[in-house]
Amino acid sequence: MAPDEIKALVRTIPDFPAPGIQFRDITTLIGNGPGFAATVEWLTTRAQDAGAQAIAGMEARGFIFGAAVAARLGVGFIPVRKPGKLPCKTIGVDYALEYGSDRLEMDPGAVTQGQSVVIVDDLLATGGTACAATTLLRQAGAVVETAVFVIDLPELGGNAALCADSITVAALMA
Ligand code: PRP
Ligand code: ADE
Repeated sequence: MAPDEIKALVRTIPDFPAPGIQFRDITTLIGNGPGFAATVEWLTTRAQDAGAQAIAGMEARGFIFGAAVAARLGVGFIPVRKPGKLPCKTIGVDYALEYGSDRLEMDPGAVTQGQSVVIVDDLLATGGTACAATTLLRQAGAVVETAVFVIDLPELGGNAALCADSITVAALMA
């Protein structure tokens, strides 16, 4: 399936979850079998080319794509979670996003020192989420150089923020 056909499966809903936000809804994409499979394939190729030894995905939408990519590559999946969800001792960081603020946490023992971890998420907006995940993963000892997304909204500055963090960004669509 061509990138333009995959793009047509993403629905845009105005004023969700707050006035002025054009919400890019991937539920219509993942509800389409061939579209979901083609998207996972695209993300998997980029993660593989980046030498991924593990995949990290951010709760919740990052789990949908990240876990699928990890399984396709046969590498581990690291869940980077919203606060209070992990049962173990965690490291955490607060961050801002397009429509509010939140916190991410992870198990510092989920990565080995020097492990090459690729971040996978559905969407890059301000980059707050991906930068927060990068901070945590690096704190835990991972080498993070690549992040792959289904959607990039470049006007919101996320791509530039990740570049400033020495992360190479790949996105299937803008
Ligand atoms: C969305 C999306 C990304 C993030 C992108 O997640 O899935 O993770 O926002 O925005 P940013 O680049 O400005 O940080 P959200 O926090 O809405 O959570 P969800 O996956 O649980 O819907
Ligand atoms: N996360 C942050 N901004 C978003 C947007 N415009 N659509 C969907 N998810 C988002």
